[in-house]
Amino acid sequence: MSKALVIAIDGPSGTGKSSVSKAVASRLGVSFLDTGAMYRALAWSCVDAQIDLGDADAVAEHCRTFDLRMGMNPKSPTVAVGERPIDAEIRQDAVTSVVSQVATNLDVRANLKQRQRDLIAQGAEATGGCVAEGRDITTVVAPDAPVRILMTASEEARMARRSKQLKVAVASTRSQIVDRDRADSTVSQFTTAADGVVTIDTSHIDFRQSVAAVLRVVQEVLDGD
Ligand code: DC
Repeated sequence: MSKALVIAIDGPSGTGKSSVSKAVASRLGVSFLDTGAMYRALAWSCVDAQIDLGDADAVAEHCRTFDLRMGMNPKSPTVAVGERPIDAEIRQDAVTSVVSQVATNLDVRANLKQRQRDLIAQGAEATGGCVAEGRDITTVVAPDAPVRILMTASEEARMARRSKQLKVAVASTRSQIVDRDRADSTVSQFTTAADGVVTIDTSHIDFRQSVAAVLRVVQEVLDGD
C-alpha cells in the first residue's frame, strides 16, 4: 500500500465509537487503537501502585515510566502493563469513575499523545493502516490523518445505549455520560467537528449503519486520491 490509511475517529461516550471503529478496522484489515484504554490503563496502574491521583506530578511521573503495551489487532485488542493483562480491570467502575482525573493532566496528555503517534505509525507500518479512536485524535494526535470523523449522538440516545450495555436504568447512566463529558471537555473539544472533519450522527442509526457510514467516508477519500 502506498500511503498509510490512518482513520481518526473522535466523539463522546455512547456514540458507538469504539465498537464501530473496531469493526471498521477488522473490515479493512488494518490495526486498531483505543486511546481511551491508554488513559484507563494509566488510572489503573496509578491505583495499583498506590499513587495519589490528586498528586498531578506523581501521576505524570508514573505515566512517563509505566510499561504500557497495546495489542492492536481489531479482532482481539489487548491492554497490558508489563506482562500483566488488564483488559477487564480497566472497564471496572473503580477505573471509570477516576479516569478523568488522569486524562485532564496535561503532562499525561503530552506523554500519551507521543505514545499514540508511535503506536499509530507502528500499526500502519504492520498492516497498511490504523483506525485510532478517542477524543483528540482528529485534532491533536493525528490532525493530518487522511480520514477524520467525529461521531456524535444526542444525550438521550447515548444514555439509552449505555443503559442497554450495562443493563441499568437510563437515569443512572447520566453520571457516566453527561458528567464525564463535562470533565473531559475541559481539555479536549470533541462535541463539534474541527475543520475538515466529517460528522456522523448516530442518534437514529444502528451499529451496522454506523459502520457503513464510516466505510463510505473512507471510500470517498480513497476515490479522491
Ligand atoms: O473512551 P473512554 O471512556 O474509554 O475514555 C476514557 C477516558 O479517557 C475518558 O475520561 C476520556 C479520556 N480520553 C481522552 O481524554 N482522550 C482520548 N484521546 C481518549 C480518551
